[in-house]
Amino acid sequence: MAILKVAMMGNPVLRRKAAAIKDPLHPDVQRLIDDMIDTMKEYSGVGLAAPQVHTSLRVVIIEAVKGSNATAPTPLLNATFEPLSQQKAEDWEGCLSINDMRGLVPRFRHIGVKATDRKGKPLEFEATEFHARVIQHELDHIDGVLYLDRMKDLSSLTHMAEWQRYGLKK
Ligand code: NI
Repeated sequence: MAILKVAMMGNPVLRRKAAAIKDPLHPDVQRLIDDMIDTMKEYSGVGLAAPQVHTSLRVVIIEAVKGSNATAPTPLLNATFEPLSQQKAEDWEGCLSINDMRGLVPRFRHIGVKATDRKGKPLEFEATEFHARVIQHELDHIDGVLYLDRMKDLSSLTHMAEWQRYGLKK
């Protein structure tokens, strides 16, 4: 178990398309998952993607996955999603790799997710609203996409301190 260093925006690893996990049970993959969970907790994140800890693999940790009976941080390997409705909502996002900033990002409100769990078993579930937002944010990371790329316009981009004073309105 270890707390890993977080890659910051500008590091090329955050812009690379990450490689699929071929052997979920490999000790290196299991260690990466444990270390990512520790790292996410340390920085009070609600999600973390492997490229953010300098590892270009398709692994994300989501704080909790509803409907999978998991209330603990949930690793998703090789995950994909599809929108179950074309409806999008805008809300604030931040990212551990983009320090102290918040911006309004449109995301699908209702998605279907397919992934492999840490034991190599297939996992399928639906997610809505904030939960769906976190998953879309983290799955963007494994394709080299940051939330800034998804903003409709950059005028809502706000420093954390100013966001706390002014940014609560959507
Ligand atoms: Ni992020």
